[in-house]
Amino acid sequence: MSIANKLARKELIDMVPYQSARRLYASSGSMQGKIWLNANEASGPGIYQVSSDSINRYPDFQPESLINAYSAYSAIAAENMLATRGADEGIELIIRTFCRAYQDSIVICPPTYGMYAISAENHGAGIIKVPLTAELSLDLAGLKAQVGQAKVVFLCSPGNPTGNLLAQQDIKTVLELFADSAIVVVDEAYIEFSPEQSVASWLKTYPHLVILRTLSKAFALAGLRCGFTLANQDIISMISKVIAPYPISAPVADIASVALAPSGLEQVSIRVQETEILRTQLTTWLTQQSWCSQVFKSDANFVLFRCQNEEVKNFIFNGLVEQGILIRDQSKQQNLANCLRISIGSERELGLLQQTIINSFITTTAQTVAKEN
Ligand SMILES: Cc1ncc(COP(=O)(O)O)c(C=O)c1O
Repeated sequence: MSIANKLARKELIDMVPYQSARRLYASSGSMQGKIWLNANEASGPGIYQVSSDSINRYPDFQPESLINAYSAYSAIAAENMLATRGADEGIELIIRTFCRAYQDSIVICPPTYGMYAISAENHGAGIIKVPLTAELSLDLAGLKAQVGQAKVVFLCSPGNPTGNLLAQQDIKTVLELFADSAIVVVDEAYIEFSPEQSVASWLKTYPHLVILRTLSKAFALAGLRCGFTLANQDIISMISKVIAPYPISAPVADIASVALAPSGLEQVSIRVQETEILRTQLTTWLTQQSWCSQVFKSDANFVLFRCQNEEVKNFIFNGLVEQGILIRDQSKQQNLANCLRISIGSERELGLLQQTIINSFITTTAQTVAKEN
């Protein structure tokens, strides 16, 4: 037995870490030459300059330029936010702050973003599942039954991998149900694609509301690792006790501040408009395909769809992988049998994806006909 196995917490030995889009293909060589449509990133790089003037010094705990820029953008006061290494770090910090290991639990509403459960598992927090309804809305009766059983409730709107927004009235009901007993987190990683649906302005009304944001999606900065936790000051102070001393490196703060300046925000708005056009085109195309039995309505930068059966799902997924086009298999998620998710890349990338799928079907049909004759 290795020393790591001998000494590690027993539950880590069999634990499967989050299979991120990058980890899944880590062994498949460089990123070059592949079309990445599996992590809901934006396509195309930005151009940024980094200042190395003070790189010999530790950065500020919360770099002022960054916090002020996000405050101006989000209309949330600086004292109500914490910049983190992506929204993922926000998820982990919330669980570490509010859940005692091996005593407290979180509530999740699957199908949902995988990191809530992984972070809880890592920390030894329990996971209570209250699945979304068949219409992908919150099961309010199911959630009500869990009042008093959990310390944190994670809601995701727009949802990943589903793409739909949760009804604001339902979020309000959950906030009221858990007012005295749990932190209610609304993950708004994709909110730039439906900004009018943000519940950030409710922070003043609900002291137990926490909102997660990121620069990884509409801001096209997934590689930067920068996110924000928005909450009342007491919650921010409490979370600040468990975060690392220098969570945001100086180059990250430099680049993120530029992305949040007016010209950066203009780019975001253009990107969001382009994404919406391409998403509509992809949705229409998928709807017309005989092998596609369902296309989910998306308010984000990806589209989830269901294939007729498992064979077709594997055929499409593997056919794309063979051509270096990577999408995400969501078929293991609750109620998502035979579902795949495509991130909205560039027009060229989505064109190649469609052509590759069409070609795979033509080749297979030709082979079948040849065999029959
Ligand atoms: C719903 C949701 N929340 C959070 C994240 C993590 O974002 P970040 O890159 O800021 O860690 C993702 C990433 O895919 C996501 O889909």
